[in-house]
Amino acid sequence: MGIDVAAVRRDTRACETVAHLNNAGASLPPSIVMDTVHEHLRADEVFGGYEAGALADESLGRARGALAALVAGRSSEIAFFDSSTRAFLTALHSFKWKRGDRILTCEAEYPSNVYGYAYLKKRFGVTTVYVPDDDLGQVDVDALRDAIDERTRLITLTHIPTFSGLVNPAARVGEVARAAGVPFLLDACQSAGQVHLDVNELGCDLLTAAGRKYIRGPRGTAFLWVRSSLLDRLEPPIADQHSAAWKGGGRFVLAEDARRFEPFERSVALHLGLGAAARYAIMVGTPEIEARVIMLGAMLRGMLADISSVTVRDKGERLGGIVTFTVEGLTPDEVRVALRQRFINTSVTSQAVAMRSFPSRHLTDVSRASVHYYNTEDELARVAETIRGLTS
Ligand SMILES: Cc1ncc(COP(=O)(O)O)c(C=O)c1O
Repeated sequence: MGIDVAAVRRDTRACETVAHLNNAGASLPPSIVMDTVHEHLRADEVFGGYEAGALADESLGRARGALAALVAGRSSEIAFFDSSTRAFLTALHSFKWKRGDRILTCEAEYPSNVYGYAYLKKRFGVTTVYVPDDDLGQVDVDALRDAIDERTRLITLTHIPTFSGLVNPAARVGEVARAAGVPFLLDACQSAGQVHLDVNELGCDLLTAAGRKYIRGPRGTAFLWVRSSLLDRLEPPIADQHSAAWKGGGRFVLAEDARRFEPFERSVALHLGLGAAARYAIMVGTPEIEARVIMLGAMLRGMLADISSVTVRDKGERLGGIVTFTVEGLTPDEVRVALRQRFINTSVTSQAVAMRSFPSRHLTDVSRASVHYYNTEDELARVAETIRGLTS
């Protein structure tokens, strides 16, 4: 069964006023998400922050459970974060690195992750190898397999980059990682809530994602999932009274579950909202979401490709909901502003976030229109017609 688009649009207040195609930036939350956040903030005001927090303990547990269900993991494997970068870098810095260790990653890697690798090089002499893309523009899985050696301690992959419709072949990377016995950290920041995720099918050991993107959660939320069998091998760079227990004599033990990665102080309201968003995605159905996002992405690419002044820039065997393009004679920012004047939200993707990919393709900035399942065919036609009008 498909998605009841009219119903999900009714649940999304802003659908009345704007055609939102900046879902890779932050998508529109369903009303239940922001109602959940507001309700808890009101409880903070009325009862006091710690008292409201204690009352929400069970609901927070349910939020953890919903995120676990979204990726087919367990509640005890979920740690709440405020940003996907923090989640990813915390995971990265939790391995016990030694000089000469190697990380294998992909060309589509998100820049903040690259900072993490540079930091590990500076602190521990860890090197990072960027596995090239294949002819289709996705990570070359055979080259990845060949690059694994006895120094390889971690494989990382950006599942869906911020700068392209590409869906990297994560499950095939997972297969290679498993066969080699190397842990696999997946950056699912853009894929969580966009495509159906199952950590066992993907073969990953750690996964990070932001709440505000395709999951439709509030800003300032993210999570890390860690396979429980790996937990004992990971030591977060920071411990506190929430993530560890004091044992006296200057000793402490880390929490047995993924809470070992969390700080004591976090936004209860926002993470309750994130839980509501995860439940909403599960209610709509992640396989159904994936099918509709892929269909709408392909439809928009087709409409844009029909305009002579437009070049669609996405590469990859499998493409999702992020559509990138350039328009002859207009800068991506001019395109963004013109669409915004017609109540259509899109964005500009700069070379800075495609630091390894755009320079080799001689691309600087591109326009990005990222669809979600609540977008309509009419909205896509409005985007295409507006762009056609700008250049004819
Ligand atoms: C693929 C990818 N990874 C990581 C991030 C970082 O997420 P955050 O801004 O929540 O740290 C982004 C943000 O756009 C992203 O697209």
